[in-house]
Amino acid sequence: MSLKDKLDLKELPRHVAIIMDGNGRWARKKGVARMFGHRNGVTPVREVVEASGELGVEYLTLYAFSTENWSRPPEEVKALMALLVSTIKKESKKLDDNNVRFSTIGDISQLPNVTREQIRHLKEKTSTNTGLNLALALSYSARWEILKAVRDLMNEALDGKVKAADIDEEKFGSFLATSDIPDPELLIRTGGEQRVSNFLLYQIAYSELFFTDKLWPDFSKEDYYAALLDFQSRERRFGKTSEQL
Ligand code: FPP
Repeated sequence: MSLKDKLDLKELPRHVAIIMDGNGRWARKKGVARMFGHRNGVTPVREVVEASGELGVEYLTLYAFSTENWSRPPEEVKALMALLVSTIKKESKKLDDNNVRFSTIGDISQLPNVTREQIRHLKEKTSTNTGLNLALALSYSARWEILKAVRDLMNEALDGKVKAADIDEEKFGSFLATSDIPDPELLIRTGGEQRVSNFLLYQIAYSELFFTDKLWPDFSKEDYYAALLDFQSRERRFGKTSEQL
């Protein structure tokens, strides 16, 4: 029996977020350049997108490039941007055919023009799709997002459009990059590190965290099902007692 058959499809997380880590170490283990690891990271992206669509997960957010990643060696940054463009070009028809709606979170004004253009094109092409909502976090960090939300809210307050007393979770959430995405119930991180690295810090308040030693290029559909099964074994109490649930 495959792990997939053990899943309760009625108890899936609506939103899964993934920190795809370990490409560099995967490459080093093989004695090849880091970029080779990133290129081999495209296959598991395809796998988790496909599996999410097949199972009926509604939202999938992938941490593809953090604000901090801009400080990597310039040639790695350039090659990652090129990989992004070629992957979007190659996958856009399949994503559209599979009813995937594509979006991004992050400061994409920082990305090269050609990357932004591909992103804009894919967003537009898939904007009316009704299947999986796939968001790539690009030039994203949670502290950037939260500070931007505070600045935007302050500007609205100064314009008299919002009062301090009106700022509740719903209002604040509407200023975040994820304003039209529910909070993730499950956050997966590959690559063996047990930290959240400035990813969706506000939104993961009640998320279940799943860490695996698998390096991202080795992460398969079976590994994804294993993470979802583990999620289904957790008791989510949201501060209540077991008896109250
Ligand atoms: C982290 O591994 C990975 C990244 C910073 C880039 C993520 C990119 C991909 C998965 C490539 C394909 C994705 C798309 C959407 C085209 P790392 O370099 O930090 O690994 P390390 O910790 O082992 O050095």
